[in-house]
Amino acid sequence: MWSVVALLLFCNLWLACRAQNVSSLNFYVSSGGNDNYFLRDNLTTAQILLTSTNTTVGGPRRFVAALPAGNSGALVYFLPSSPVNSSSTTGASQNTTLTVGMINGTMKGVTEDYDNVGVQADLTFNENATLGVTIIGAVRAMRDYVEGSGTMHEIFNYTLYSYNTTNIRLHRQYINTTNSSSSIYKGADLYLIAGSGTKFSVTPGNNGTYTPPTIDILVPSGSQNGTVRVKVVTNETSLAGLNPQSLFLNQSSGSTPGIQLALNGLADGSNPVADQVSFLTYSNKFTAGGWRFLTYFGRDSLIALRLLMPTLTSEAIEAALGAVIERANSTGALCHEETIGDYASFVNMGNNMSYLGNQPYYDYKMIDTDLYLLPALSHYFLELPQGKGRAAQFLARNATLQNGTYGQILNRTIEYNFARSLPFYVNSTPQNLLAFRPGQPVGNWRDSNEGTGYGPVPFDVNTALVPASLRATDALAQAGIIPTVTSWPGGNISDVAAVWEREAPVLFEVTIDSSTAQARLQNFVKAANLSTSLLSQNSTTSSGNVSFYALSLMADGSPVEVLNSDLSFNLLYGTNVSQEFLQHVVDALQPYPRGLLTNIGMLVANPAYDSNTTNIEVLNRAAYHGTVVWSFQQGLMAGGLLRQLGFCSPITTVDINPPPQPPPSWCSNTTFVQALRDAQMRLWTSINGAKSQIYSEVWSYSFNNATNDFSVADLGSLSPEGTESDAIQLWSYGFLGILDPYTIP
Ligand SMILES: *[C@@H]1O[C@H](CO)[C@@H](O)[C@H](O)[C@H]1NC(C)=O
Ligand SMILES: *[C@@H]1O[C@H](CO)[C@@H](O)[C@H](O)[C@H]1NC(C)=O
Ligand SMILES: *[C@@H]1O[C@H](CO)[C@@H](O)[C@H](O)[C@H]1NC(C)=O
Ligand SMILES: *[C@@H]1O[C@H](CO)[C@@H](O)[C@H](O)[C@H]1NC(C)=O
Ligand SMILES: *[C@@H]1O[C@H](CO)[C@@H](O)[C@H](O)[C@H]1NC(C)=O
Ligand SMILES: *[C@@H]1O[C@H](CO)[C@@H](O)[C@H](O)[C@H]1NC(C)=O
Ligand SMILES: *[C@@H]1O[C@H](CO)[C@@H](O)[C@H](O)[C@H]1NC(C)=O
Ligand SMILES: *[C@@H]1O[C@H](CO)[C@@H](O)[C@H](O)[C@H]1NC(C)=O
Ligand SMILES: *[C@@H]1O[C@H](CO)[C@@H](O)[C@H](O)[C@H]1NC(C)=O
Ligand SMILES: *[C@@H]1O[C@H](CO)[C@@H](O)[C@H](O)[C@H]1NC(C)=O
Ligand SMILES: *[C@@H]1O[C@H](CO)[C@@H](O)[C@H](O)[C@H]1NC(C)=O
Ligand SMILES: *[C@@H]1O[C@H](CO)[C@@H](O)[C@H](O)[C@H]1NC(C)=O
Repeated sequence: MWSVVALLLFCNLWLACRAQNVSSLNFYVSSGGNDNYFLRDNLTTAQILLTSTNTTVGGPRRFVAALPAGNSGALVYFLPSSPVNSSSTTGASQNTTLTVGMINGTMKGVTEDYDNVGVQADLTFNENATLGVTIIGAVRAMRDYVEGSGTMHEIFNYTLYSYNTTNIRLHRQYINTTNSSSSIYKGADLYLIAGSGTKFSVTPGNNGTYTPPTIDILVPSGSQNGTVRVKVVTNETSLAGLNPQSLFLNQSSGSTPGIQLALNGLADGSNPVADQVSFLTYSNKFTAGGWRFLTYFGRDSLIALRLLMPTLTSEAIEAALGAVIERANSTGALCHEETIGDYASFVNMGNNMSYLGNQPYYDYKMIDTDLYLLPALSHYFLELPQGKGRAAQFLARNATLQNGTYGQILNRTIEYNFARSLPFYVNSTPQNLLAFRPGQPVGNWRDSNEGTGYGPVPFDVNTALVPASLRATDALAQAGIIPTVTSWPGGNISDVAAVWEREAPVLFEVTIDSSTAQARLQNFVKAANLSTSLLSQNSTTSSGNVSFYALSLMADGSPVEVLNSDLSFNLLYGTNVSQEFLQHVVDALQPYPRGLLTNIGMLVANPAYDSNTTNIEVLNRAAYHGTVVWSFQQGLMAGGLLRQLGFCSPITTVDINPPPQPPPSWCSNTTFVQALRDAQMRLWTSINGAKSQIYSEVWSYSFNNATNDFSVADLGSLSPEGTESDAIQLWSYGFLGILDPYTIP
């Protein structure tokens, strides 16, 4: 089935397809010490990343090219060839500063023989350089190297295909053929072509394909830069992009003033951010981020969709929803990440299924992805004008990646989710909550081994997503859009949801008496190298006790006492969110380290109150899900607060969230509603403190003891594993569907 889709979308062969879908994108984003260049033209879509030319520290310069076609690309470290002894202030030996830049305007699509298509750009070198570690082909293998402290797999070795003093071709032949009956292999190539005056010196590896060749780039001495044209091509299938006009609604077709405000400049492309979202979206899937995640991710697609949906066209919304449904497994679980291209062969071989060749590998290890689909569908079909009347045609569509209609596949997901929710309904014990799958250290968005403080029972899944999925299923069934759940003919699905809503949060509640909380905060500021003066700000909690919801539970049901931002999921997805719950939100939205807010954004975790003080290190500012800022979490929190506040009285907002009837009881408590509004404004002050970062994936902080201020720090350079942030990240663009209350007219 895959190859059929592949052909349909292989726009390079089909002029008609090209003409319809091409809109050129060409933009630059500086992020995390890197220069990022993005391109979509009539041939290809690609990102090129270079270590920033204004980096002053000596050492290797990185080049990355990433193409969504087969999730293919190339990674090259250019090393300064000759470390030079120069008299530095320390007297230590220093490298000269190699600078590798891109000549403006030279990035463009390029074709090569055998339907190879890709990207080329002209790079400048201010001095001689040598190729260091070079990986060609699978972006996933490139990720293994940069995220896995240098993990390389010999199976992905390239070969020195041809070379002379001006032209080098490094070839990566993919492990398997397209299918076992064909003998035509796909591959990827890195071409280096010397500009005038520049020469290559190449010594082939002395063991055939196994040891890399030595490749020197020799530039003339003097003030001139040497130039090298770099081409990265593959004959994996190119994808048809969604241009801003097919992605975003026209401003005039926005159904409310809030939507029209949000749409300003998006469909007509005058807001450059529209191009960034466009780069990540395709007619057959949304991709999660560049450069590391330029392929399908279910959770990212569905969270981004939930936030952006009011601004998007039906075509775009159905592309994202369809991609998720297409990749469901036969049990009804939804796919977290697809592995395509060369890396799919590697995974299939690792699973003792090498007979599958390079057929995509779909990963179902997450326990949350399955729960985001129904809320997205019900929001679309029941609440937004774009989705009204479109359910029947959508659900009748035949899937292309598997047999069955979307409706049939969806029914399996509904039954699967329902079956998982029943044990806790029958007996509400911690053991009946949803836990990570056996043997899996991860299972929700905090997708790192440390992410939930090693607790396998996450808060977001159990308190927010399970009931939200049940409520959405119920609403769609009531509207006659989907059949009622058949595996439990006697019951009422909303009763099951109500039990989860009432019983699950209680199991995560942590309460610490005032003096213990003070002592832990004092210990924390020392341990985390912060200042005690951060604690002099007033606390918003009225009683001296500190209460919050645990990040997760350990297998024995004991809470991981880490204050965290996952309450945001309940705000955006939840029904019947109680005043008690919202008070925890108010408390979490106070300055760090009492709460989560810094002057450069909201942290996603805060281990200050944890009796298990090892979590102070486990979730520190260098941890991927530690005391760091994830932009999409800020978006969920901001969007969720707007949704809840909008239940009490109409406000100017983008998203359409019909209030429950009657409105929540806390709405009549004006003091409390004001406290929630104040928390909302504190959140936005925090968000706006790092506004230039909000579309990137994640950032950390550095703390200035003299001013008590935090400033943005690049996570990649702090993280021991080198976990870097994507410059553009799909779900961070959720902010396009949220209005800043400070700027609402
Ligand atoms: C692609 O676009 C370039 C620049 O806009 C143009 O010169 C070229 O003819 C186009 N190629 C095709 C095959 O459409
Ligand atoms: C490098 O330049 C970028 C873009 O102009 C800027 O954002 C960044 O802060 C600079 N980095 C350094 C180390 O000067
Ligand atoms: C010099 O370059 C080498 C090789 O690229 C690198 O390993 C080393 O860290 C650099 N030294 C300094 C002081 O930048
Ligand atoms: C050499 O290239 C660098 C990086 O692109 C650029 O900043 C510099 O101006 C160039 N120098 C010359 C002489 O062209
Ligand atoms: C690169 O070129 C574009 C358009 O040609 C221009 O807008 C931009 O300012 C240039 N950037 C630099 C760094 O020269
Ligand atoms: C081949 O793989 C080995 C092990 O990962 C690595 O050390 C070597 O540099 C690779 N050679 C090439 C040409 O990729
Ligand atoms: C080097 O190789 C390129 C392409 O393979 C060829 O066009 C060029 O003539 C060669 N140059 C020399 C000096 O052999
Ligand atoms: C892909 O390109 C390689 C050359 O890089 C070629 O050997 C191979 O036959 C091509 N495969 C297909 C399916 O065109
Ligand atoms: C070449 O590399 C292969 C694979 O690592 C190894 O089995 C072989 O012994 C090596 N040959 C020589 C001459 O080093
Ligand atoms: C690069 O190396 C070549 C050969 O050793 C040398 O002639 C040239 O001057 C070097 N270039 C620079 C900029 O040092
Ligand atoms: C894929 O390649 C591996 C390694 O060469 C091989 O064992 C396997 O049989 C191939 N699968 C197919 C379907 O060709
Ligand atoms: C589908 O994925 C779920 C979750 O990982 C798993 O439990 C189930 O066995 C899978 N179904 C099939 C048919 O592989």
